[in-house]
Amino acid sequence: MKRATGPSASQTTTLANPPTFWFQHRTCVHPEPNTSPTMSKFYVTTPIYYVNGAPHIGHAYTTILADAMARYHRTRGDDVYFLTGTDEHGLKIQRAAEQQGISPEQMVDENSAKFRELFEKLELTHDRFIRTTEDDHRRTVEEMVQRMTDAGDIYLDKYEGWYSASDEAYYSEDEIEDGVAIASGSPVEWVEEESYFFRLSKYEDRLLQWYESNPDSVAPQARKNEVVSFVESGLKDLSISRTTFSWGIPMPDDPEHVLYVWVDALTNYITAVGAFEDQQRFDRYWPADIHLIGKDILRFHAVYWPAFLMSAELPLPQQVYAHGWWTVEGEKMSKSKGNFIDAFELADEYDLDVLRYFMMREMPLGKDGNFSKARLVERNNAELADNVGNLVNRTLSMTGGFVDGEVPSMPAELTEEADVELRNHCIETVQAVDNAMKDRQPHRALERITALAGETNNYIQTVQPWALKEKPNRQGETLYCALEAIRYVAVLLSPFVPDAAARIMDAMNLGDELRTLDSLQSWGGLEAGTNVRKPDVLFEKLDPPSEQEEDEQQEEQEQTEEADEDEEGANLISFDQFMEVQMRVGEIVEANDVEDADKLLHLFVDVGEDEPRSVVAGIATTFDPDELVGRRVTMVTNLQPAKLFGIESQAMLLAAQREDGTYALAEYPDDVAPGTSVS
Ligand code: MSP
Repeated sequence: MKRATGPSASQTTTLANPPTFWFQHRTCVHPEPNTSPTMSKFYVTTPIYYVNGAPHIGHAYTTILADAMARYHRTRGDDVYFLTGTDEHGLKIQRAAEQQGISPEQMVDENSAKFRELFEKLELTHDRFIRTTEDDHRRTVEEMVQRMTDAGDIYLDKYEGWYSASDEAYYSEDEIEDGVAIASGSPVEWVEEESYFFRLSKYEDRLLQWYESNPDSVAPQARKNEVVSFVESGLKDLSISRTTFSWGIPMPDDPEHVLYVWVDALTNYITAVGAFEDQQRFDRYWPADIHLIGKDILRFHAVYWPAFLMSAELPLPQQVYAHGWWTVEGEKMSKSKGNFIDAFELADEYDLDVLRYFMMREMPLGKDGNFSKARLVERNNAELADNVGNLVNRTLSMTGGFVDGEVPSMPAELTEEADVELRNHCIETVQAVDNAMKDRQPHRALERITALAGETNNYIQTVQPWALKEKPNRQGETLYCALEAIRYVAVLLSPFVPDAAARIMDAMNLGDELRTLDSLQSWGGLEAGTNVRKPDVLFEKLDPPSEQEEDEQQEEQEQTEEADEDEEGANLISFDQFMEVQMRVGEIVEANDVEDADKLLHLFVDVGEDEPRSVVAGIATTFDPDELVGRRVTMVTNLQPAKLFGIESQAMLLAAQREDGTYALAEYPDDVAPGTSVS
């Protein structure tokens, strides 16, 4: 066995620099009696969900994500408040109830209960499940409107324009096409009625200032750019009341008007922490550290909500984070396509830990993701069962077999290179996970944790405890190191796969203090002499989607391929025809989002001419604008220009689309100059 070449390690190693994030949290101003004054707080919210239908995968996803963040911060020892709930007022709900022939009250009671039941089934750890029909919420909304009125920000006028009940959103003329909102595809209707307005226009400059001086206020960056350009393009005052239906909170002092459902809904975030009623609680938790939302409701959260708060003279949230959307087996989820994933069915079909792991590992926060059964099975089998499960199983079996199931003594000093490396990996992983959570990238956190499990498996392979019977001390040391590394893996995994992590920690007989992130600051916390045992199987291996399903998929694919081949046969082109296509190397010199077009980016590409060309490319689901600048790609330069979303596209970018829908670019190294011909 090789000796460590680095500086010898002390018996208990402490992080030289504990993750900076640990100290960056807002210190509570008004501590409650049983919490320490210096304890950090973390307030996380999900959107509150419309109760016009059954919960689906999108609802499950955001709430699971928020749950993992809440659990992570609890493991850090923070004072956490996690809020979710249901959005129960408005035209959309009133109409859904009418269609079902029941009262709105009955519908919201029944459907809200389904969400509550779902979240119990998913074992989520929210501190409150709020309903906008609750009394304290109504009072808070009334006070909020009063404050906005006192600020001189509410006036009576007449609204004339488009409204989508399905999105509960007003749209301007240029945001609709053929009777539907371009962004969402939802039908719009013409509305003309007396309405109270909120002076949104007054907050244009302050909003821009807020985005600018708070880099993390809206994330990810590409979404923030969208918001900034929307506000820069000029804000109109917002209609905040309706008179043509009644299901909502009446406008204080004018009950003929019902308050716009978004004013009502957004206010839930402050109701839950005691706004206007429990100052101490409010000061403790508000502002929220993160409002987790889907990308479709960004404008409400990143423009309207901060403006309402400014008007009411309340602090603004630390961050509004918009996540992407799930497609299902590569297609947009919709009832008509028959690929709608009901959240209860999801919870019945998969082990909760596996579902959580898959969702958070598969979809980088902010990007769209694809829910594919085959992919879930792959990740479960390779990353959980074969990696984490196998590690725990083999190490605890060896501990049972070789040292009577007792944690051996820790090496007096870490001198073996393999031991030192393993310890360093553990400590580095704690930091890396903290950084990933700070950057709101749980998929990266999970990647690092499973990598640590992999490294620990490699460690065992290298040190071979089974071959050390003649050297019982060394055998004990190797088992100690592997067990301690498993403790790191389990504690770090616990916010994400809580049940499996708890089963590992229970099997290792860990006391509460050894289950905290704090306890991972020092290597060597695991106590010698502790009795440990092998847990039951942690992650069952799953069969890939059934043969029948695969056959069906294959048949479909074959049919498409056959059709393609037929077409190809008929459409063979001559060499001369091919030579007519002019392709050149282009360097992307600027990249921006295209407003209201989630899939498009507006690029400026240098193809060796005096001016870069303007190009619209459908690759926004894979690339952030920032990561494209400077890349040398393949451009078709003699296509007729086309106009997309009002932008002229003067060339075409070539990219390959992977099976999961993401794109890879055909690229060149830096020594291939822009303008070089490609043939
Ligand atoms: N009631 C409003 C939110 C008010 S918050 C003050 C609402 N409700 S919703 O039930 O329609 O949507 C809730 C969330 O589900 C949104 O964040 C939306 O982005 C998300 N999703 C809907 N379909 C989705 C996917 N296919 N994938 C991921 N999330 C998706 O909007």
